[in-house]
Amino acid sequence: MGHLLPVLLLVKMQNVLVLHQILRFMLFVFLLTHSLLQVSYTSWFLDAFNYAIATNMDVLNLSIGGPDYLDLPFVEKVWEITANNIIMVSAIGNDGPLYGTLNNPADQSDVIGVGGIDYSDHIASFSSRGMSTWEIPHGYGRVKPDVVAYGREIMGSKISTGCKSLSGTSVASPVVAGVVCLLVSIFPENKRKEILNPASMKQALVEGAAKLAGPNMYEQGAGRVDLLQSYEILKSYQPRASIFPSVLDYTDCPYSWPFCRQPLYAGAMPVIFNATVLNGMGVIGYVQSPPSWHPSDEEGNLLSIHFTYSEVIWPWTGYLALHMQIKEEGVHFSGVIEGNVTVTLYSPPAQGERAARSSTCILQLKLNVVPTPPRSKRVLWDQFHSIKYPPGYIPRDSLDVRNDILDWHGDHLHTNFHIMFNMLRDAGYYVETLGSPLTCFDASQYGTLLLVDLEDEYFQEEIEKLRDDVINTGLGLAVFAEWYNVDTMVKMRFFDDNTRSWWTPVTGGANIPALNDLLAPFGIAFGDKILNGDFSIDGEQSRYASGTDIVRFPRGGYVHSFPFLDSSESGATQNVLLNSGMNKADSPILGLLEVGEGRIAVYGDSNCLDSSHMVTNCYGLLRKILDFTGSNIKDSVLFSESVKQDTPLYEDDNHLSSRRTDVNFSVYSAVIGKDLICRSDSRFEVWGTKGYNLHVRGRNRRLPGYLVIDLGRGLNSTVGSTKSRRPKFTEKNKGDSAGNRYLGLLYRDELDVPELVASQWLVPAIVAVTGILLFLSIWQIRQKRRRRKRSGSGRLANL
Ligand SMILES: *[C@@H]1O[C@H](CO)[C@@H](O)[C@H](O)[C@H]1NC(C)=O
Ligand SMILES: *[C@@H]1O[C@H](CO)[C@@H](O)[C@H](O)[C@H]1NC(C)=O
Ligand SMILES: *[C@@H]1O[C@H](CO)[C@@H](O)[C@H](O)[C@H]1NC(C)=O
Ligand SMILES: *[C@@H]1O[C@H](CO)[C@@H](O)[C@H](O)[C@H]1NC(C)=O
Ligand SMILES: *[C@@H]1O[C@H](CO)[C@@H](O)[C@H](O)[C@H]1NC(C)=O
Repeated sequence: MGHLLPVLLLVKMQNVLVLHQILRFMLFVFLLTHSLLQVSYTSWFLDAFNYAIATNMDVLNLSIGGPDYLDLPFVEKVWEITANNIIMVSAIGNDGPLYGTLNNPADQSDVIGVGGIDYSDHIASFSSRGMSTWEIPHGYGRVKPDVVAYGREIMGSKISTGCKSLSGTSVASPVVAGVVCLLVSIFPENKRKEILNPASMKQALVEGAAKLAGPNMYEQGAGRVDLLQSYEILKSYQPRASIFPSVLDYTDCPYSWPFCRQPLYAGAMPVIFNATVLNGMGVIGYVQSPPSWHPSDEEGNLLSIHFTYSEVIWPWTGYLALHMQIKEEGVHFSGVIEGNVTVTLYSPPAQGERAARSSTCILQLKLNVVPTPPRSKRVLWDQFHSIKYPPGYIPRDSLDVRNDILDWHGDHLHTNFHIMFNMLRDAGYYVETLGSPLTCFDASQYGTLLLVDLEDEYFQEEIEKLRDDVINTGLGLAVFAEWYNVDTMVKMRFFDDNTRSWWTPVTGGANIPALNDLLAPFGIAFGDKILNGDFSIDGEQSRYASGTDIVRFPRGGYVHSFPFLDSSESGATQNVLLNSGMNKADSPILGLLEVGEGRIAVYGDSNCLDSSHMVTNCYGLLRKILDFTGSNIKDSVLFSESVKQDTPLYEDDNHLSSRRTDVNFSVYSAVIGKDLICRSDSRFEVWGTKGYNLHVRGRNRRLPGYLVIDLGRGLNSTVGSTKSRRPKFTEKNKGDSAGNRYLGLLYRDELDVPELVASQWLVPAIVAVTGILLFLSIWQIRQKRRRRKRSGSGRLANL
C-alpha cells in the first residue's frame, strides 16, 4: 500500500538504545526512500532480511506493509527472521478506518503488529483494523493489531534542522520497537537470548498493555503499549506458553465485538473464535494434551466446542480455533455460560536442559446464550462464494474509487460489512456466516439467505438445492449483485512493474454469469451494464455506484427501474454509435418476486451495504427486503401495482454476459475443479459430508431438525481440519506458475504505482512523472503530493 513508508531499518541493539537517535535515523531513511522511490521490490527486502540474519540482529522495525499475504518468498523470509530469534515489529497499515485492511507482515502471528492512537487514546482514524483475512471463507480471522502506540503528530527531527511532526502507523511501530529495545536492555547481553524471543516479547507487550475503553479487539488488540508493566512481566519471566487473547467475554462490549453483539443459540452455524498461541518456550512447540473445555457449572455442558489448532507451533506461534455450538438441549436456555479452555504445549529442552519444557495455557470464556430465534429473524450470509485479493486481480466494486483498485477487505460481516452487521442486529436480526457450499445449511432454519457481491461459481448441486430450498422449503433469497462487463475488464488491465507482467481482472465486481446460472431456475438474470446515478425509492435518496441491471424477470414480479447512464466500455461504444451519448434509458435494478413457498429479491449493486467506499447506504431498503423475504411483509411502495410486471422481462441467452475464456478460473475458485464438501465452518453434523438433503431428497427432507447424511458413502475422507498444517495456501500455489505470477503483485507498499499505470489512458502525464521519479527533485515530489491530496488519496501526506 502506498501509505506506508517503504523503509527498512535494522536496529543493532547494542548501538541504538536511545529513542531519539532511532527516530532521527528513521526520519532520514524515511525521507530518503519515501520521497525518491515509490516502489520497493520483494527482492530488496529479502536482501535486507538476509543481512539481518547474517549479522545477528536482535530487533527489527518494519514500517512497510501491503495486502499480499500470499507473497510467499516474503512471508517465508519473515518466518525465517523470527525463527532466527529476531524480534520483528511492524506497522499494521494506514488503510483505516476501513475494516479488513490489515497489512502484511504485521498481520502475521510471529510479528508484533502495531496500530496507531492519538494523544487522547483514540484509535487514529488511519490505523488499519478488522480481523486478519487469510482465514476466510472457512475460518475466522485472528486478532490484530497486537498493541497500539502513539502514532499521530509524533515529533521527530527534520532532515535539515529542527523538528517535524509525523503521523502514521509507520511512526507508531518504531515507538514499540523502541520499547522493545528498552525491554531488551534489562537483561545482560549474555542472558538475552535465553529469555527473549518473538513470543516472550509479545507476551510481555500484550499482557502489560493497557486496554482502552471504546475500541474493540480488532481495532486495539491488547491495548496501548505500557513499558513499565511489560518490564514487570519480563523481570520475573519464566518460559511459558499462552493464548492471545486470553479471554473471550460476551459481557465485555464493545471490546468483544462482534461476539458480544450476537449471543449464541442452538441450531446456529458454529461461532468460530481464532486465538493465537504464543510459545515463549521455544521456536518449535507441539500440543501435548489437546484442548479441552471445563465449564464452571452444569449449564456449561450445553456448549459443545470443537477445536482446530496447529499441531506444530512454529515459529514461536500457532493458532487455536474454537468452533462453538449450543447443543439441541439448550434450545430454550437463556443465560451465561462460563468456563475455561485449557491446552498443554511442550517444546524440546533448551541447551543444557534434560527435560522438555511444558506449559498449560488457559482461555477464559464467558458466553451469552439465548433461545433459538424464530426462523424469520435468522439471516444467513454466504461467505463461501466470495473471492478476494490475493491471489488474483479481483477488481474493486465501485469503479469510481480509483485509489483502491482491488477487492481486498474480505467482504465479511465483520470486516467491510461490519456496519451492516450492526444495523441488522439493531433491527433484531440474527446473522450467521456460511463458509461452505449452499448444500451445507438447513434452509428450514433460515428466513433469508443473503448473497452479496459474490465472485465464485456454483456447484450444480448447489443450484438444485437452492431451487428446492426456495420453492419447497420457503427460504427467502436476497441478492445484491455488482457490475460485470468483459470489455471493461479487458480495458482495466495494467502492467505491473514489480512482476513485469500484465494484470487483468479475473471477474467483474461480481460474477454475473455464475449468479445467472444460480438464478436461472427462477427466470432471473442480470445484464452487463455498468450503471451510475442518483435515484430515490420511497423518498430515500440513493446513489447507484457501478451497479448492474436486471435483464430477466418473470411475470408477476415487482420491478423498479430508473434512468441511469451506462458507463461500461460496450455501453459507451454503443452510446457513441447511436449518437445519443447522454440519453439515459430506464434500467431495471430492483426486482421482488414470490415463487412457490419462498420469496426472492434482487438488486444490482452492493456499494450501499459495503462500508468500504460507500456513497449512500441502503440499510432501509435492506430491512424492507428482509421483511419481505423472511416474513412476507410487503412494503406498499416496493409492491405498488405500478411496478408489477404484466409481461416478463426477457433477454435472449445470446445477450447474457458470458465468462472470460482467457482466464483459468480454477486457480481462484473454491468450486471449479474442487470437491463439494462441508468444512468445519458448517454444523458439526455435516462436517466432511456433502451436506443436507442431497441424495436423500424426498425421503428425508421433511424430517425435523438436522439431517446427518450417511457417512458410508466415502464422503468423510477429507474432514481433516484438525490436521491442517500452517501454510495451507503454500500447497495450493506451489509449482503453479499461473498462481505465482500473481503472488508478488502490487507488492507491499505501493498500490499507488500500479494504480498510476492502470489509469495510463487517463493521465499519461502522471505515468511520465512516475517513470522519472528517481530523478525528481524534492520540490517536484511535493507538487505531486499536493496533487494527490487534491485527488482524494491524500492519506499519503499523513505519514
Ligand atoms: C521503523 O521503520 C521505519 C520505516 O521503515 C524507519 O524509518 C524507522 O527508522 C524504524 N524505526 C526503528 C526504531 O527501527
Ligand atoms: C485460524 O488461523 C490460522 C492462522 O491463520 C489458520 O491457519 C486457521 O485456518 C484458522 N482457523 C480457523 C478455524 O479459523
Ligand atoms: C479459569 O481460569 C481462571 C484464570 O486462571 C481461574 O481464575 C478460574 O478459576 C478458572 N475457572 C475454571 C472453571 O476453571
Ligand atoms: C487451470 O489451473 C489448474 C490449477 O488450478 C490446472 O490444474 C489446470 O490444468 C489449468 N487449466 C488450464 C487449461 O490451464
Ligand atoms: C468414515 O468415517 C467412519 C467413522 O469414522 C469410518 O468408520 C469409515 O471407515 C469412514 N469411511 C471412509 C470411506 O473413510
